[in-house]
Amino acid sequence: MHFASFVALAAFFIAPVVAAVDLPLVAYVPFVKEGNRTTVPGAADGVYTSYNSTHLAFYGPLSTEAPAVEVRSGLDERQLTCDVSCNGQFTLAVDITGANNGMANLLVTHSSFSGSISYVFSNVWAFGCDYGNGQNEPVSQWNFDVGCVNAQCGTTQGGWNSHHSWKSTYGREIGGFSC
Ligand SMILES: *[C@@H]1O[C@H](CO)[C@@H](O)[C@H](O)[C@H]1NC(C)=O
Ligand SMILES: *[C@@H]1O[C@H](CO)[C@@H](O)[C@H](O)[C@H]1NC(C)=O
Repeated sequence: MHFASFVALAAFFIAPVVAAVDLPLVAYVPFVKEGNRTTVPGAADGVYTSYNSTHLAFYGPLSTEAPAVEVRSGLDERQLTCDVSCNGQFTLAVDITGANNGMANLLVTHSSFSGSISYVFSNVWAFGCDYGNGQNEPVSQWNFDVGCVNAQCGTTQGGWNSHHSWKSTYGREIGGFSC
């Protein structure tokens, strides 16, 4: 075995496994991955984060009402551009709104993450993907990203906004998410 591959293997086994947000954990749930799409058959509504190569961490539901207070600090440092992909999946606008609001309520108190964060409502997965070394998504930025997707894809279609320079995407899909 080459030394480099030994190091990579060792890092894989030694890397500490830490849940991404400090909410009370409900369960680790196994996921199915096909290409970049992750699904959890029969997923309950609520917060999910990446955990390990086979399981997501599940933290249970939050409110799906829009948060009363929108945190705006730091917004002017963010990238206010839309680079949207619509994914051709359609569902009820009220379910997409519920998932988006659940995610907003998560981000009010937990805006930093690595890997992925999701909020599931009625089979809609509102999600954030981190392709770098961690992300911070204030709820004001999330609302901006949702606005980008809604403007281009409508309020009943899946889609996401990409921030290439931050190595992140934010959006929603039906029945799973793609990171
Ligand atoms: C991922 O974590 C779950 C829950 O602790 C565990 O059952 C599973 O074996 C882990 N998977 C790997 C590949 O370590
Ligand atoms: C997932 O992969 C598909 C097929 O390669 C691609 O079209 C899509 O943009 C990817 N999704 C994300 C969020 O990168």
